[in-house]
Amino acid sequence: MAKPLIVGNWKMFGRCADLAEIGALAAGLGGAVQRIDAVICPPSVYIAAAAALARGGPIAVGAQDCSIEHANAARTGEVSAAMLAEAGARYCIVGHSERRANHGEEGAAVRAKAEAALAAGLIPVVCVGETRPEREAGRAVDAVRAQVREAVPETDLPLAIAYEPVWAIGGDRPPAAAEIAAVHAAVRALNGRARILYGGAVGPANAAEIFAIANVDGALVGRASLKAADFAAIILSHPAAG
Ligand code: 13P
Repeated sequence: MAKPLIVGNWKMFGRCADLAEIGALAAGLGGAVQRIDAVICPPSVYIAAAAALARGGPIAVGAQDCSIEHANAARTGEVSAAMLAEAGARYCIVGHSERRANHGEEGAAVRAKAEAALAAGLIPVVCVGETRPEREAGRAVDAVRAQVREAVPETDLPLAIAYEPVWAIGGDRPPAAAEIAAVHAAVRALNGRARILYGGAVGPANAAEIFAIANVDGALVGRASLKAADFAAIILSHPAAG
Protein backbone atom coordinates (compact mmCIF):
# COMPACT_ATOMS: atom_id res chain seq x y z
CA MET A 1 0.00 0.00 0.00
CA ALA A 2 1.21 3.50 -0.85
CA LYS A 3 2.38 5.76 1.97
CA PRO A 4 -0.63 7.94 2.83
CA LEU A 5 -0.43 11.60 1.87
CA ILE A 6 -2.45 14.26 3.71
CA VAL A 7 -2.16 17.78 2.32
CA GLY A 8 -3.46 20.99 3.88
CA ASN A 9 -4.37 23.72 1.39
CA TRP A 10 -4.46 27.06 3.18
CA LYS A 11 -5.75 28.81 0.04
CA MET A 12 -5.68 32.61 0.58
CA PHE A 13 -6.52 32.25 4.27
CA GLY A 14 -3.33 31.40 6.16
CA ARG A 15 -1.44 34.57 7.16
CA CYS A 16 2.00 35.14 8.66
CA ALA A 17 0.64 34.77 12.18
CA ASP A 18 -0.88 31.39 11.25
CA LEU A 19 2.58 29.92 10.54
CA ALA A 20 2.73 29.22 14.30
CA GLU A 21 0.21 26.45 13.56
CA ILE A 22 3.05 24.51 11.88
CA GLY A 23 4.96 24.21 15.15
CA ALA A 24 1.79 23.35 17.02
CA LEU A 25 0.96 20.71 14.42
CA ALA A 26 4.42 19.16 14.65
CA ALA A 27 4.10 19.04 18.42
CA GLY A 28 0.62 17.56 18.18
CA LEU A 29 1.76 14.80 15.84
CA GLY A 30 4.88 13.87 17.79
CA GLY A 31 6.54 10.78 16.33
CA ALA A 32 3.23 9.27 15.34
CA VAL A 33 3.38 10.00 11.65
CA GLN A 34 6.54 8.44 10.29
CA ARG A 35 4.32 6.34 8.05
CA ILE A 36 2.31 9.31 6.69
CA ASP A 37 3.40 12.22 4.49
CA ALA A 38 1.84 15.38 5.98
CA VAL A 39 2.05 18.63 4.02
CA ILE A 40 0.99 22.26 4.52
CA CYS A 41 0.57 24.50 1.46
CA PRO A 42 0.57 28.15 2.59
CA PRO A 43 0.33 31.12 0.20
CA SER A 44 3.59 31.20 -1.81
CA VAL A 45 4.90 34.34 -0.09
CA TYR A 46 5.10 32.36 3.17
CA ILE A 47 6.68 29.16 1.81
CA ALA A 48 10.25 30.00 2.80
CA ALA A 49 9.22 30.94 6.35
CA ALA A 50 7.02 27.83 6.61
CA ALA A 51 9.85 25.60 5.38
CA ALA A 52 12.23 27.09 7.95
CA LEU A 53 9.72 26.38 10.71
CA ALA A 54 9.03 22.86 9.44
CA ARG A 55 12.68 21.84 8.92
CA GLY A 56 13.60 18.61 10.66
CA GLY A 57 10.00 17.92 11.68
CA PRO A 58 7.19 15.72 10.42
CA ILE A 59 5.57 18.32 8.12
CA ALA A 60 6.61 19.11 4.56
CA VAL A 61 5.70 22.33 2.78
CA GLY A 62 4.00 22.67 -0.59
CA ALA A 63 2.76 25.33 -2.99
CA GLN A 64 -0.79 25.93 -4.19
CA ASP A 65 0.11 26.59 -7.85
CA CYS A 66 3.11 27.21 -10.09
CA SER A 67 3.82 28.89 -13.40
CA ILE A 68 3.51 26.89 -16.60
CA GLU A 69 6.99 28.16 -17.58
CA HIS A 70 9.87 25.88 -16.63
CA ALA A 71 12.61 28.49 -16.98
CA ASN A 72 12.90 32.11 -15.85
CA ALA A 73 10.54 34.10 -18.08
CA ALA A 74 8.76 37.41 -18.56
CA ARG A 75 5.72 36.38 -16.48
CA THR A 76 4.88 39.26 -14.17
CA GLY A 77 3.35 38.09 -10.92
CA GLU A 78 4.10 34.39 -11.44
CA VAL A 79 6.36 32.04 -9.51
CA SER A 80 8.12 29.12 -11.16
CA ALA A 81 8.24 25.60 -9.75
CA ALA A 82 12.02 25.93 -9.49
CA MET A 83 11.59 29.06 -7.34
CA LEU A 84 9.08 27.26 -5.13
CA ALA A 85 11.55 24.39 -4.73
CA GLU A 86 14.33 26.84 -3.83
CA ALA A 87 12.05 28.39 -1.22
CA GLY A 88 11.58 24.98 0.39
CA ALA A 89 8.46 23.52 -1.22
CA ARG A 90 8.44 19.78 -1.93
CA TYR A 91 4.88 19.48 -3.29
CA CYS A 92 2.78 21.62 -5.63
CA ILE A 93 -0.99 21.58 -6.06
CA VAL A 94 -2.01 22.18 -9.69
CA GLY A 95 -5.42 22.46 -11.34
CA HIS A 96 -7.38 23.22 -8.19
CA SER A 97 -11.01 23.91 -9.11
CA GLU A 98 -10.62 27.50 -7.86
CA ARG A 99 -7.78 27.99 -10.37
CA ARG A 100 -9.85 26.30 -13.08
CA ALA A 101 -12.86 28.54 -12.30
CA ASN A 102 -11.09 31.85 -11.60
CA HIS A 103 -8.15 31.63 -14.01
CA GLY A 104 -9.56 29.55 -16.85
CA GLU A 105 -6.97 26.80 -16.42
CA GLU A 106 -7.92 23.78 -18.52
CA GLY A 107 -6.59 20.26 -18.90
CA ALA A 108 -3.57 20.96 -21.10
CA ALA A 109 -2.45 23.91 -18.97
CA VAL A 110 -2.87 21.86 -15.80
CA ARG A 111 -0.79 19.07 -17.31
CA ALA A 112 1.92 21.56 -18.31
CA LYS A 113 2.01 22.91 -14.75
CA ALA A 114 2.29 19.38 -13.37
CA GLU A 115 5.18 18.77 -15.78
CA ALA A 116 6.85 22.00 -14.64
CA ALA A 117 6.50 20.85 -11.03
CA LEU A 118 7.99 17.45 -11.85
CA ALA A 119 10.89 19.07 -13.73
CA ALA A 120 11.69 21.12 -10.62
CA GLY A 121 11.68 18.03 -8.41
CA LEU A 122 8.33 18.80 -6.79
CA ILE A 123 5.56 16.24 -6.28
CA PRO A 124 2.49 17.51 -8.14
CA VAL A 125 -0.96 17.11 -6.59
CA VAL A 126 -3.20 17.28 -9.66
CA CYS A 127 -6.80 18.19 -8.79
CA VAL A 128 -9.82 16.84 -10.64
CA GLY A 129 -13.52 16.80 -9.79
CA GLU A 130 -16.99 17.07 -11.23
CA THR A 131 -19.38 20.01 -10.90
CA ARG A 132 -22.80 19.68 -9.33
CA PRO A 133 -24.60 19.57 -12.72
CA GLU A 134 -22.24 16.80 -13.85
CA ARG A 135 -22.94 14.84 -10.65
CA GLU A 136 -26.70 15.33 -11.00
CA ALA A 137 -26.58 14.21 -14.64
CA GLY A 138 -24.87 10.98 -13.59
CA ARG A 139 -21.66 12.04 -15.34
CA ALA A 140 -19.30 12.38 -12.36
CA VAL A 141 -17.11 9.39 -13.17
CA ASP A 142 -16.89 10.26 -16.86
CA ALA A 143 -16.03 13.90 -16.11
CA VAL A 144 -13.26 12.91 -13.71
CA ARG A 145 -11.88 10.30 -16.11
CA ALA A 146 -11.68 12.95 -18.85
CA GLN A 147 -9.86 15.36 -16.53
CA VAL A 148 -7.36 12.68 -15.48
CA ARG A 149 -6.65 11.81 -19.12
CA GLU A 150 -6.12 15.49 -19.99
CA ALA A 151 -4.27 16.77 -16.95
CA VAL A 152 -2.18 13.97 -15.41
CA PRO A 153 1.24 13.51 -17.06
CA GLU A 154 2.67 10.07 -17.79
CA THR A 155 5.59 9.76 -15.41
CA ASP A 156 7.44 7.32 -13.20
CA LEU A 157 8.13 10.13 -10.72
CA PRO A 158 6.00 10.52 -7.57
CA LEU A 159 2.69 12.25 -8.29
CA ALA A 160 -0.68 12.51 -6.55
CA ILE A 161 -4.17 13.00 -7.94
CA ALA A 162 -6.74 14.72 -5.72
CA TYR A 163 -10.40 14.00 -6.37
CA GLU A 164 -12.26 17.10 -5.21
CA PRO A 165 -15.92 17.27 -6.25
CA VAL A 166 -16.42 20.98 -6.89
CA TRP A 167 -19.80 20.97 -5.14
CA ALA A 168 -18.35 19.51 -1.93
CA ILE A 169 -15.52 22.05 -1.55
CA GLY A 170 -16.28 24.56 1.19
CA GLY A 171 -19.46 22.70 2.14
CA ASP A 172 -20.24 20.57 5.15
CA ARG A 173 -20.84 17.19 3.56
CA PRO A 174 -18.62 15.01 1.37
CA PRO A 175 -20.22 12.58 -1.09
CA ALA A 176 -21.39 9.20 0.21
CA ALA A 177 -18.61 6.65 0.70
CA ALA A 178 -19.87 4.61 -2.26
CA GLU A 179 -19.71 7.68 -4.50
CA ILE A 180 -16.12 8.43 -3.45
CA ALA A 181 -15.23 4.75 -3.92
CA ALA A 182 -16.64 4.70 -7.47
CA VAL A 183 -14.60 7.72 -8.58
CA HIS A 184 -11.41 6.52 -6.88
CA ALA A 185 -11.75 3.09 -8.52
CA ALA A 186 -12.12 4.76 -11.92
CA VAL A 187 -9.06 6.94 -11.32
CA ARG A 188 -7.07 3.92 -10.09
CA ALA A 189 -8.00 2.04 -13.29
CA LEU A 190 -6.41 4.88 -15.29
CA ASN A 191 -3.36 5.33 -13.06
CA GLY A 192 -1.95 2.48 -11.01
CA ARG A 193 0.98 4.45 -9.55
CA ALA A 194 -0.34 7.80 -8.30
CA ARG A 195 -1.53 8.33 -4.76
CA ILE A 196 -5.21 9.27 -5.01
CA LEU A 197 -6.45 11.77 -2.42
CA TYR A 198 -10.00 12.76 -1.58
CA GLY A 199 -10.77 16.46 -0.92
CA GLY A 200 -13.89 18.49 -0.11
CA ALA A 201 -15.44 18.95 3.34
CA VAL A 202 -12.91 16.68 5.09
CA GLY A 203 -12.77 17.28 8.83
CA PRO A 204 -11.91 15.51 12.09
CA ALA A 205 -15.42 14.01 12.26
CA ASN A 206 -15.39 12.25 8.89
CA ALA A 207 -11.70 11.64 8.07
CA ALA A 208 -11.49 8.10 9.46
CA GLU A 209 -14.50 7.03 7.41
CA ILE A 210 -13.00 8.55 4.26
CA PHE A 211 -9.57 6.96 4.86
CA ALA A 212 -11.27 3.54 5.09
CA ILE A 213 -12.60 3.76 1.50
CA ALA A 214 -10.80 1.61 -1.08
CA ASN A 215 -8.22 3.47 -3.21
CA VAL A 216 -8.23 6.53 -0.93
CA ASP A 217 -4.53 7.15 -0.25
CA GLY A 218 -5.03 10.33 1.75
CA ALA A 219 -6.78 13.69 1.73
CA LEU A 220 -6.56 17.26 0.48
CA VAL A 221 -7.94 19.43 3.27
CA GLY A 222 -8.97 23.08 3.09
CA ARG A 223 -10.52 24.82 6.09
CA ALA A 224 -9.70 22.10 8.61
CA SER A 225 -5.96 22.39 7.83
CA LEU A 226 -5.76 25.94 9.20
CA LYS A 227 -6.00 24.95 12.85
CA ALA A 228 -3.29 22.59 14.10
CA ALA A 229 -5.69 20.76 16.44
CA ASP A 230 -8.12 19.93 13.62
CA PHE A 231 -5.45 18.99 11.09
CA ALA A 232 -3.61 16.85 13.66
CA ALA A 233 -6.86 15.07 14.49
CA ILE A 234 -7.40 14.31 10.79
CA ILE A 235 -3.86 12.97 10.35
CA LEU A 236 -3.98 10.92 13.55
CA SER A 237 -7.29 9.37 12.49
CA HIS A 238 -5.51 7.59 9.63
CA PRO A 239 -4.88 3.92 10.44
CA ALA A 240 -1.20 4.33 9.49
CA ALA A 241 -0.71 6.86 12.32
CA GLY A 242 -1.19 4.23 15.03
P1 13P B 1 -12.54 22.32 2.26
O1 13P B 1 -11.79 21.20 2.97
O2 13P B 1 -12.54 23.59 3.01
O3 13P B 1 -13.91 21.85 1.81
O4 13P B 1 -11.70 22.64 0.93
C1 13P B 1 -11.31 21.59 0.13
C2 13P B 1 -10.31 22.07 -0.84
O5 13P B 1 -10.63 22.77 -1.78
C3 13P B 1 -8.90 21.70 -0.60
O6 13P B 1 -8.11 21.95 -1.73
